[in-house]
Amino acid sequence: MKIDCHSKVNLGLRVLYQRSDGYHELETVFQELAWGDQLELVPAIEFSFTTSGIAVPSGSDNLCVKAYELFRKHRSETPPVQIHLHKVVPPGSGLGGGSADAAAVLKALNRLTNGPLSERELINLAAELGSDVPFFIRGGTQWAWGRGEKLMSIQLDFTGWFLLVIPPIHISTRWAYQALNSRLTGRRSPVTFRGLLKKADLVRFFENDFESVVIPAYPEIGAIKETLIEEGAFFAGLSGSGATMYGIFSERDQAETAARVFRKNSYHTELTAPIFTTTSGIV
Ligand code: C5P
Repeated sequence: MKIDCHSKVNLGLRVLYQRSDGYHELETVFQELAWGDQLELVPAIEFSFTTSGIAVPSGSDNLCVKAYELFRKHRSETPPVQIHLHKVVPPGSGLGGGSADAAAVLKALNRLTNGPLSERELINLAAELGSDVPFFIRGGTQWAWGRGEKLMSIQLDFTGWFLLVIPPIHISTRWAYQALNSRLTGRRSPVTFRGLLKKADLVRFFENDFESVVIPAYPEIGAIKETLIEEGAFFAGLSGSGATMYGIFSERDQAETAARVFRKNSYHTELTAPIFTTTSGIV
């Protein structure tokens, strides 16, 4: 079974407050993107996991292996599988690469198992693996709250080309939340992003709170945002806690011209399309 794992960006992200369990309540809109890792999964005599592309851990600390073990704990009849991951989405870039891979393993195993789990059960398992994993069970465009695991599919009334600019900076999500903590005084109420889905609203309201700590710490990420806007993006924002800054362009030509500007500075760029229809990614 071959699976396109895809990636995501956050269209705005508000961190509301820190909970007693240490996690933060947030509000965001996740948008699935076509670009992503590839996974191959075939039934085998014993479990194995190999990788190619960008180097990532291939032992039990890889989310794909964790996803397999977690699924097997809930469905003991899960067959052994051979999994190969071709990694293209840089870890720690805020694009949800590892989360998409883990969700793909859960969905693929669910297909191979008699008496599959429901979507709700898969989402609950996904939440045990990480806050961004549940989104990839259904993908598309979803409004998320809680720690990112409460989800509702929504429809945007705009489209565009997404230019991802990935600087060679690894940002720890844990660090970014801690850096924000001192600014979180009292409980903030959500603005309910789900109601703000037009192009004009996006530009006005979809801020990512992490920009207020990430840009001062890494000014080059702020400079990328300015260049994206100068090059004609109608929206530019940080994905998750970074380091990826993305711009949305109405015209593909404009996005390609912008990509050339960033490539001159040796940045990794990817021009990709949003995926609006919910998809399993399994081909
Ligand atoms: O859930 P995940 O393992 O992806 O989160 C990584 C880290 O980011 C957590 O250990 C926590 O420090 C922080 N986090 C948070 N609030 C969230 C999501 C993540 O504080 N909603």
